[in-house]
Amino acid sequence: MISIQSFDGPLNVAVIGASGGIGSAVVSALEDATNVARIFAFSRQIRNYGNASKVTAGQLDLLREESISNAAKSLKSSAPLHLVFLASGLLHQSTEMQPEKTWNNLDPTAMEHAFKINSIGPALVAKHFLPLLAKNQKSVFAALSARVGSISDNGLGGWYSYRASKSALNMLLKTFAIELARQNASALCVGLHPGTVDTRLSKPFQRGVPPGKLFTPAESAAYLLSVIGELGPEDSGKVFAWDGSEVPA
Ligand SMILES: NC(=O)c1ccc[n+]([C@@H]2O[C@H](COP(=O)([O-])OP(=O)(O)OC[C@H]3O[C@@H](n4cnc5c(N)ncnc54)[C@H](OP(=O)(O)O)[C@@H]3O)[C@@H](O)[C@H]2O)c1
Repeated sequence: MISIQSFDGPLNVAVIGASGGIGSAVVSALEDATNVARIFAFSRQIRNYGNASKVTAGQLDLLREESISNAAKSLKSSAPLHLVFLASGLLHQSTEMQPEKTWNNLDPTAMEHAFKINSIGPALVAKHFLPLLAKNQKSVFAALSARVGSISDNGLGGWYSYRASKSALNMLLKTFAIELARQNASALCVGLHPGTVDTRLSKPFQRGVPPGKLFTPAESAAYLLSVIGELGPEDSGKVFAWDGSEVPA
């Protein structure tokens, strides 16, 4: 049993991308958390969590703003939310979208799709969900980014679309954080790097990951919820890794 530190409970949490490797582990960890009252789990395909569960499932497709705004509207009577955890994202998709090894692989359609899922969709989620965050107490909007979105940390090159779409996400989160501070001084907006996690997103790229550095989704979820618990007002707009260290811009 865990409890998410430094919030005034009981907490209402929305998880977007709840069907993913990390997203579903976050939902499970929140189910076990003693100070979480309700979890609203959004994904493209609605999952049945059972009537006894504190999880309510909802539909959300990042490619359709109407579905994002409807998802947010469906929570109005359950608001305020104390945590919005965006766990969606895309690195590859069958043969038509693979991370680029060289600029020769750049394909405008694949690039556009990466930005739609990794930058624009999350921005629209922020647009519709930030107004639901609790006021006058700690509340957090956290989106899964990736260390490869750091411009100063880019030593290897490659993965153009994924890197750039995550850098764009980080800039969007910083910009949302500035406006959010004016409207809701106790609310935070951050990016998170989950580590290298054994999910369908990382499967083709796990060779070469040092032993002990490939986390299970449950391990990563526990680290990330602990990082969220430690966040303070000065942290809004930044990106943090699973171990609590700041990822440079
Ligand atoms: N795994 C890692 O090692 C790693 C490392 C660094 C960063 N990350 C980041 O962590 C996040 C989660 O990754 P993961 O490893 O858990 O990947 P995953 O298992 O592939 O999960 C991806 C999630 O994104 C959702 N998604 C994709 N397109 C969507 C759309 N149009 N509308 C709504 N949801 C959509 C998927 O929904 P469906 O189930 O409907 O497809 C799924 O829930 C991503 O942002 C990723 O960049 C992961």
